[in-house]
Formats: sequence, C-alpha cells, structure tokens
Amino acid sequence: MNKRILVTGGLGYIGSHTVIALHENNYEVVIVDNLSNSDKSFLKKITDITGKSPDFECFDLTDLIPLKRFFDTHPIDGIIHFAAFKAVRESVKIPLKYYYNNLVSLIQLLQEFQARGLDNFIFSSSCTVYGQADKLPIKEDAPLKPLESPYGSTKQMSEQILRDYANIHIKKVVSLRYFNPIGAHLSIKIGEFPLGIPQNLVPFITQTAIGMHPKLSIFGGDYNTKDGTAIRDYIHVYDLAKAHVAALSRLLRGKNRSSFEVFNLGTGRGHSVLEVVKAFERILNKSFDYQIIDRRSGDIEAAYADTSLAEKELGWKAEISLEEALQTAWAWEKKIASDKEKF
Ligand code: UFG
Repeated sequence: MNKRILVTGGLGYIGSHTVIALHENNYEVVIVDNLSNSDKSFLKKITDITGKSPDFECFDLTDLIPLKRFFDTHPIDGIIHFAAFKAVRESVKIPLKYYYNNLVSLIQLLQEFQARGLDNFIFSSSCTVYGQADKLPIKEDAPLKPLESPYGSTKQMSEQILRDYANIHIKKVVSLRYFNPIGAHLSIKIGEFPLGIPQNLVPFITQTAIGMHPKLSIFGGDYNTKDGTAIRDYIHVYDLAKAHVAALSRLLRGKNRSSFEVFNLGTGRGHSVLEVVKAFERILNKSFDYQIIDRRSGDIEAAYADTSLAEKELGWKAEISLEEALQTAWAWEKKIASDKEKF
C-alpha cells in the first residue's frame, strides 16, 4: 500500500510542487488548503502533470471542527505542513494575524497528530530564523537571532514548539529551512502567483520584464559584498520539493538520528541582486531597467547555505542552476500573461 501524506497548504507555491514530487515517488496525497493564497485550479494542473488526482479538503487549520472531522475520516502516514502566512512586511503591520494563524494552526495540528498516535511531521521553515548569521555559509547549528518580522518569529517559535513536542513525545519531526525559492515547474504548468505587488526579487523582475512595473528598484548598493548588493541563495522550487520527499522517506524508514532534526535547503551558492539581474538580462537578451535605492529595512546583507548536512543525511542536493531557474520563472510569467489575454 502506498503511504498517504497530508500536505497542508498543498495548493500554494512550494506545496503544489511538493505534491507533484510526492506523486512522482508513489505517495498518495491529501491536500488541506484554505485557498487564502492559492488557487483551486492548481488541483487540475497537478493532475495534468502527474496523472494522479490528490484528494482535497478546503478548510482553515485554526478551525477545530473540520480539522477533527478530517482526521476522523482520513488515515494518514505523515504530514508536510506548509500552510502559513508568509508576507514579511504585512506581518510587521499586523503581527497578531501572523502569530494567531501560524502558531494556532500548528498547535492544533500537533494536538490532533498526538491524539491519533500519528508520526512523521515535516515543517516548512526558513533561513530567516538565522537573521544575519555571523559565519557564511550558514550551518544548521548557527545561533538563531532576534528578528524584526513577526513572520520570522513565528518560524523560530514553531521550531521551538516542534522541538519540545518531538522530544517529550518521541516523535519524528524535521524542520526544513529554505533559502530563497524561485522558479516554476519545468512543465510551466504551475508556478508562483504573488498576491498584489510582489515583495520578492524574482517575481518582481519577471513582472517588470513583462511590463507590469516601470523598473526594478534594487534595495541597497552599499552592502559589504562584491558589488555592493545583497547576497542570497536562490534555489529552484522543484529542487526544494524533492528535498521534502527525501526527508519524508528518511522519517518513514526510521533513519532519523534524533526526534527533531533541522536541515538547510539551499544550493550552497550565493548570488548578489546584480548577478541575478545580469543573469536575467542574458535570458532576455537585452538590458533590463533598474535603479539602486536605499536598503530595505529588515534585510540582511548575505545568506547562503552550508548544504553538507542535507547532502549527507538526506542524500539530496540541488541540481538546477540559477540561469535555468530564472528561465522557468520567465516562461511562467509569459504563460500567465498569455492566459490572461485569452480571457
Ligand atoms: N530585492 C530588491 N528589489 C526587490 C525585491 C527584492 O532589491 O524589488 C532584494 C532584497 O533586498 C534582497 C534580495 O533581493 O536583497 C532578495 O529579496 P527577496 O524579498 O526575494 O527575499 P528575502 O531574502 O528578503 O526573503 C526571503 C523570503 C522570506 C524569507 C527570507 C529568508 O521572501 O519569506 O527569504 O531569508 F523569510
């Protein structure tokens, strides 16, 4: 019998790519998503890509009645928990929305998980938990710094909740700390749908190139980096998705070394904002309009992953280059534009 996995937030950006990777590795998937930042049309697209239809339940994890009913009716072998709010800037303005949603949903999910004697839990975390790390590349044992954004704090708090829970109840829990996910599935059938004006670099670049914004503003040209712009580790979303399958398989085979494990998911390579812009110009085969303005508050100077732990323990390594990832992001942006024209 194939294992059956609950994917919360499974219609979101990283969640939907992970559902595809799970299908491709013969897992059955049931998605729970409240559609607050995702689109139901992705269900059909997942089926188009994999030939399999995930089960789908639409409810909010902070809502206990449907949550209990879900577990009463769906036997599962593990959970990958993506569902959370993720807009860094909004979280500064409306902190309670983030603390309530991201923490209450996690706690209620864990209470049901515990009450039903379930095991194997994968959490969607972020390299934001490190703040500006003292040493690069960043290893998993780097200290976690106080953060400016409630969003980032919910990731740190969620990890603490999971660590305490896993240790006392001897459960298998993994937290995956993503660096900067970019790009779209190689089929260009699914990708990222930012709500409103994108805060993240790559969707802003592709939207500018398609004509939705006059130019890109680069936040900060005076960082202590090779060209003055900030450095990040950009990882293709499908590479990231595959790491979830590797982590799940490790838990299901009981290969974990402790109740609570943490892995960095990045490429191990840092690229500056200007390098990303130049790489994108090579894809467009023309220059791209940008200006360098003041730093964005809360941004760090540089972050890229030490990926050796994930390579050794998960047997996983990112394979898709920055250029290929940007090509998929650009192809996806053009696909969204041509779909809009059709309607
Ligand atoms: N940037 C610009 N102009 C833009 C957008 C971004 O110059 O219009 C720069 C940022 O200043 C930063 C880099 O591009 O130097 C990457 O910015 P993103 O917003 O794409 O990504 P961040 O690293 O700021 O944030 C991302 C995720 C967060 C996560 C964080 C972890 O969006 O959810 O990584 O470090 F918490």
